[in-house]
Amino acid sequence: MENCRLIYKSRASTDVVSNETISHLVEQSAQANKAREITGLLLLAGNKYLQVLEGPYHDVNRLYGNIIRDARHCDVELITFEPMESRYFEQWNMRLVDLYELSKYPRELLSAKYQYREGVILIPERIHEVYALLLDAKALCLTTPWQKKSSSRKTAE
Ligand SMILES: Cc1cc2nc3c(=O)[nH]c(=O)nc-3n(C[C@H](O)[C@H](O)[C@H](O)COP(=O)(O)O)c2cc1C
Repeated sequence: MENCRLIYKSRASTDVVSNETISHLVEQSAQANKAREITGLLLLAGNKYLQVLEGPYHDVNRLYGNIIRDARHCDVELITFEPMESRYFEQWNMRLVDLYELSKYPRELLSAKYQYREGVILIPERIHEVYALLLDAKALCLTTPWQKKSSSRKTAE
């Protein structure tokens, strides 16, 4: 059966999501997803979630059924559910990106690109911006150019 990608957004049941709560959830999710070859990213923006799930059609569908009924969040809204040729998030069975925890430069970068209110990046309405935000979050996880020292330039080996 073909693979698919599903993206949804939701609102946490509590105004403040504690670090422990979210890390526990992501750890368990990553373990469960690994067994089903599901990969993805969970973005937390204030008390809003944006999650992408990639994997076998039936498994992703079933997981979304669980997620919708999960009392830890509400207002679950499907953004896209589509056939997928290749994964964007193959590195992670589930990776958390808490936008509030970002350091100064990545936060400035995202706030210049996406709508921002009271210190929180808003989940975009337009689908291409949703993809852009998810892929930007991925890039920020994989590279931290602002932390590199500029003085020590590496020569060719
Ligand atoms: C925001 C959010 C994201 C979640 N993401 C996943 C996930 O990626 N994988 C997963 O197995 N469970 C995830 N869950 C937990 C599921 O809702 C559910 O608890 C889990 O699939 C276990 O269901 P079961 O007890 O019926 O087996 C998530 C829950 C929330 C609130």
